[in-house]
Amino acid sequence: MAEKQDAMGRAPAPSHVNPYGRVDEEVAEVAERDERRKKRMKCFVYLVAFIVFQTAVILIFGLTIMKVRTPRFRVRSASFNTFNVATANTNPSFNIQMLAELGVKNANFGHYKYQNSTIEFYYRGTKVGEAPVPKARAKARSTRKFNVIVDLSSTNVPTNLLADEFRNSAIIPLTSQSKLRGKVEIMKIMKKNKSTNMNCTMEINISSEQLGNISCR
Ligand SMILES: *[C@@H]1O[C@H](CO)[C@@H](O)[C@H](O)[C@H]1NC(C)=O
Ligand SMILES: *[C@@H]1O[C@H](CO)[C@@H](O)[C@H](O)[C@H]1NC(C)=O
Ligand SMILES: *[C@@H]1O[C@H](CO)[C@@H](O)[C@H](O)[C@H]1NC(C)=O
Ligand SMILES: *[C@@H]1O[C@H](CO)[C@@H](O)[C@H](O)[C@H]1NC(C)=O
Ligand SMILES: *[C@@H]1O[C@H](CO)[C@@H](O)[C@H](O)[C@H]1NC(C)=O
Repeated sequence: MAEKQDAMGRAPAPSHVNPYGRVDEEVAEVAERDERRKKRMKCFVYLVAFIVFQTAVILIFGLTIMKVRTPRFRVRSASFNTFNVATANTNPSFNIQMLAELGVKNANFGHYKYQNSTIEFYYRGTKVGEAPVPKARAKARSTRKFNVIVDLSSTNVPTNLLADEFRNSAIIPLTSQSKLRGKVEIMKIMKKNKSTNMNCTMEINISSEQLGNISCR
C-alpha cells in the first residue's frame, strides 16, 4: 500500500470523499433524478392524453359512422292505371291497378343491399293485392325510389263489409306490409345483416282517385 502522503502526513482525500464535492454530486444526482421523474411524468401525461383522444375519436367514429341503422321502407305515393270502383249497395267492388312509388331510406354511411321480396296490400285484414320487390342496392345516406305495379281486387272481400264501408265513406282504406332482408356494408369492413319491416296505412279517395293519408311506422 503506497499511498502518497503530503507534508503533514495525511493521505490526500479522494475527490469523492471531499465533503463539498460530495454535496455537489448529491445535489446534481437529486436534480437529475428529479429531471428524469419529471420527464417520465410528462411522457405519462402525454400518453394518457393520447389514449383519451384516441378513445374519443374511436367512440365518435363508432357512434356515428360505423353505427348500423335500420333502413326505412315505405310507400311514398301512387297513381292509378285503371280505376274501377262500384259503390252500389247491391254489388260493391273495386278493381284498381295501382302504380306505387316505394322508397328504401338508408341512413347508413354505407350501402344497403337487399334481397327479393314482396309487398302485400290488405283491405281490413283481407289481402287484396301483392307485387314483387326486386333485389337492389340503396346507396349510402340516400333513399332508393322505385315503382311497383299492383292489381288491387276486392274479390276476396266480404260483400257486406265493403257495402258498409261505402255507405259511410268514400274511401278505400289499405295497409301495406313487406319485409326486406339485406346487408348493410360500411367501408368494406363493417357488414351486418339488417332487415326492415314496412307497415303502412293509406287511403284511396274514390271521388278524387288519389292515394292519401299515407302513414308508416
Ligand atoms: C329475384 O327476382 C328476379 C326477378 O324479379 C329473379 O330473376 C331472381 O332469380 C330472383 N332471385 C332470387 C335469389 O330469388
Ligand atoms: C346474414 O344473412 C345471410 C342470408 O341473407 C345468411 O346466410 C347469413 O348467415 C347471415 N349472417 C348472420 C351473421 O346472421
Ligand atoms: C302494423 O301497425 C299496426 C298499427 O298501426 C299494428 O296493429 C300491426 O300489428 C302492425 N303490423 C306489423 C306486422 O307490425
Ligand atoms: C277526397 O277528395 C276530394 C277532392 O280532392 C275531397 O273533397 C274529399 O274531402 C276527399 N275525401 C276524403 C275522405 O278525404
Ligand atoms: C286522413 O285521415 C284523417 C283521419 O284518419 C281524415 O280526417 C282525413 O280526412 C284524411 N285525409 C285525407 C286526405 O284522406
